Amino acid sequence: MAKSQTRFVCQACGAIAPRWAGKCEACGAWNSIAEETAAPAPTRRGGAPALAIAGLDSIAAPPPRLPTTLTELDRVLGGGFVAGSAVLVGGDPGIGKSTLLLQAAARLAACGRAVLYVSGEESVDQIQLRARRLAVQAAPLQLAASGDLAAIRAHVGASPSLDLLIIDSIQTMAVDTLESAPGTVGQVRAAGFELIRMAKTRGFAVVLVGHVTKDGAVAGPRVLEHMVDAVLYFEGDRGHQFRILRGVKNRFGATDEIGVFEMTERGLAEVTNPSALFLAERRGHVAGSAVFAGLEGSRPMLLEVQALLANGQGGVPRRAVVGWDSGRLAMLLAVLESRCGLRLGNHDIYLNVAGGLRIAEPAADLAVAAALASAAAGQPTSPDEVFFGEIGLSGEIRQVAQAEARLKEAAKLGFAAASLPRRVARGGAKPLAPEGLRLTELGHLTELTARFGE
Ligand code: TYD
Ligand code: MG
Repeated sequence: MAKSQTRFVCQACGAIAPRWAGKCEACGAWNSIAEETAAPAPTRRGGAPALAIAGLDSIAAPPPRLPTTLTELDRVLGGGFVAGSAVLVGGDPGIGKSTLLLQAAARLAACGRAVLYVSGEESVDQIQLRARRLAVQAAPLQLAASGDLAAIRAHVGASPSLDLLIIDSIQTMAVDTLESAPGTVGQVRAAGFELIRMAKTRGFAVVLVGHVTKDGAVAGPRVLEHMVDAVLYFEGDRGHQFRILRGVKNRFGATDEIGVFEMTERGLAEVTNPSALFLAERRGHVAGSAVFAGLEGSRPMLLEVQALLANGQGGVPRRAVVGWDSGRLAMLLAVLESRCGLRLGNHDIYLNVAGGLRIAEPAADLAVAAALASAAAGQPTSPDEVFFGEIGLSGEIRQVAQAEARLKEAAKLGFAAASLPRRVARGGAKPLAPEGLRLTELGHLTELTARFGE
């Protein structure tokens, strides 16, 4: 009989080390290597199975979807859970993953779908209590508190009509063929692999919840990212009530979509008009504030960018950025200094995207520049104006995608003016200025900074 093997696996990245070490050679994490015992692979009896070959032209019908009727979740999924697919939902502990999935599961169950919710973290009582708080206790959801994959396998094998299986969380599941503790990379990988295979062969959708560590890596579940069909992150900071569900991988839909929720006393409420929410606490006529007409996936979204300049205490000036890329800020500051003559070098600079959202688009450059120039001059930007445009190193303002959608959103929220990149004549379709919106086209950053007379 083959011996079971011991190996040393990094719990952060899944790399296998030849022996125990304090630091993982592959990802550089400290104290992440743990010993795992792997059961020997069963030896196959008989010949190798035949490989099924298909051509390219036999297009099958798209797999059926299970829309949850939570539109913000469905948008990120691309129209609902896909039968036979696996979704990984990552996020910090306590951010609301269980709440979101319980709400979605209850909705589906109420629509007559067979949904099994397995929690390895909470007892059945706790989940029932939560369900009452969310007012979904009447939904015919099947609930189990277990971390035993063999039991799940047996139950799923005996329920042929299952539509959706939710595993909360994958770190609490253990397969019986491995000796290592739940949550180790080996267990997460083996349990994830088996659940995904069950979903594919049986045609139900599976959702794996995974906790993320503070530094942003999905410890353990990271090894599942390439196995699943979609990876969604649930983010937001606990100080804010907003929660953003972000798709980072999706084989069945767009990856840059976001869903916006608000954590309330009675669970997560969908936010269908995020711009209004993000701008709700804005005070007009404050120097250092500018509204960015952004785009999250297919959805335009208005966000307030705030900049604050303080006189440095000598030494290296401080740069603190929340919700934006600090490298991008450094670039913008350099452009403002060398192309527009703005002297910001000695100031401490604080930049913040109000509402806790993170902007990844370069289109925010112009709004950030407006906030900085406004803060430097001590003059507010016009409170009913939005900004968007990418800034190049020579200070030129470049085109960005979907100008029309951004302008429409600004008009919808009652803005009266927009500063945007100058349109190039080259056959580019003209963005349609919605009624009542005054457009200022800018070719160079100096045209913006000139507004703030010093
Ligand atoms: P939870 O879904 O348990 O987070 P996760 O599964 O990601 O660890 O969310 C827990 C937090 O949400 C907890 O701090 C309380 C808060 N919460 C509400 O504010 N309202 C609610 O209705 C519920 C159910 C939770
Ligand atoms: Mg939870």
